Amino acid sequence: MRSPGQVSSSFATLVDERSRVGHAPIVSPPRNAASCREMARYARGVPEDLSRHIAFIGFMGAGKSTMAELTAQRLGRTWFDTDHVIVERCGRSIPELFASGEQDQFRAMEKQVIAELLVGEPAVLSLGGGALEDADTRTLLFERAFVVNLDVSWQEVQAELPTLMSTRPLLQNRTEDEIHELFLRRQATYNKAHVRIHAPRGDIEAAAEHVFSMLTVA
Ligand code: S3P
Repeated sequence: MRSPGQVSSSFATLVDERSRVGHAPIVSPPRNAASCREMARYARGVPEDLSRHIAFIGFMGAGKSTMAELTAQRLGRTWFDTDHVIVERCGRSIPELFASGEQDQFRAMEKQVIAELLVGEPAVLSLGGGALEDADTRTLLFERAFVVNLDVSWQEVQAELPTLMSTRPLLQNRTEDEIHELFLRRQATYNKAHVRIHAPRGDIEAAAEHVFSMLTVA
């Protein structure tokens, strides 16, 4: 029986478990020394790790909010979506902010909100896809959160482009090539995450369950 708050005894075992039951592992192993150390700390269950936030990053439309909400429910933590907090705080939608030329103010609020959330109670956060363009935010986030890149392929983004372009102001009036360029440019930051998860459309719940199992022990 898993109990929230306990940490995984073996990251590799969980990846193996998924293979054993006939699924391809959806969680990539840590890829650099820093993230190996991070996972090792989780595996050892060092108590201060439990005080860390869990933050989902990734490109627009990857499903970060859904993943974060489900993960928070399973861990019994509060979920904060940075876009939701900003909208609530300023009483205007993100398309409205961008349409009135207040993109810089949006970015400043985004930075401020993330900094505030990161000093609060350990929570599960979903970040806007552009939040990590800010260097201070990157530093703070990697210091204070266990960061999960919710990976999405360019083909998946392409399939969702009409919806994304009509709902994400940053993508309006951009060509597909420009969006692809933005997508590629951001991968370098997303790939710095401690762990990368690919959740195909319709499989978000299974992926959230996997994040939960990765952070808890049997
Ligand atoms: C943005 C992503 C959006 C939102 C804003 C800008 C970006 O959030 O913060 O429209 O720069 O990638 P989602 O990633 O949740 O769509």
